[in-house]
Amino acid sequence: MNARTPLVAGNWKMHKTVEEARQLVWAMLDGLRAVPEVERVLCPPFTALLPVAQMLLGTDIRLGAQNMHWEEEGAYTGEISPRMVAEFAQFVILGHSERRAYFGETDDMVRRKVHAALSHKLTPIVCVGETLEQRRAGQTEAVVRGQVLAALDGLQPEQAARVVIAYEPVWAIGTGEAATPEEAQRVIGQVIRPTLAKAFGHEAARRVRILYGGSVKAHNAAAFFVQPDIDGALVGGASLDPEQFPAIVRAAAARA
Ligand code: 13P
Repeated sequence: MNARTPLVAGNWKMHKTVEEARQLVWAMLDGLRAVPEVERVLCPPFTALLPVAQMLLGTDIRLGAQNMHWEEEGAYTGEISPRMVAEFAQFVILGHSERRAYFGETDDMVRRKVHAALSHKLTPIVCVGETLEQRRAGQTEAVVRGQVLAALDGLQPEQAARVVIAYEPVWAIGTGEAATPEEAQRVIGQVIRPTLAKAFGHEAARRVRILYGGSVKAHNAAAFFVQPDIDGALVGGASLDPEQFPAIVRAAAARA
């Protein structure tokens, strides 16, 4: 029995109207319910949170948002607050590379959001990962370590242990070119977990769930989940496929 419950989250990104979201959830629901040993999280766009929450009532499938602001409320046109997210969701994806690249999200903003999430009893899924340019320049370790430390700065070990980290190399997202399981294990097991251990102690580092993300599909998922430090996946494109997403969840059950 692994000490860390495996977790597979589907990041729907900017896909699905309410009606489309309902159809997708209906198509996956039985497949997802059949694997209770894996924590399963659906992260639809904000507009579909309420209808999907209603469909998940009475199941143990969890809901996540893809982003949020750090303030409780206020004059921030177009933003969604932690209180609003917490009405429906148990998880929130923070610092996704698309937010960092296209919406100017900085390490400091991610840090504020992580604190806000924890104080609203939301589990943050904090995304970190190097770009292709950074990888070619040999900066992977420094970039990933810096993002982890910045996002979790100021947390107590007990709080840090509740955070989920997703290692998503930017060059592997949406490209069909996943990292090899060995590469992902190396970054997660030799950079991220030791960084957590140094900052928050071995016990907290041992408890943090660390996911891999970037072109995870039904056919390659199992190879990631046999790696000792990879506790699950953050899935983009394949989470919109009612066959593939439950298949990835089943592959993660082998870790439980
Ligand atoms: P893909 O699985 O489509 O590569 O996306 C990964 C991702 O960005 C999940 O957050």
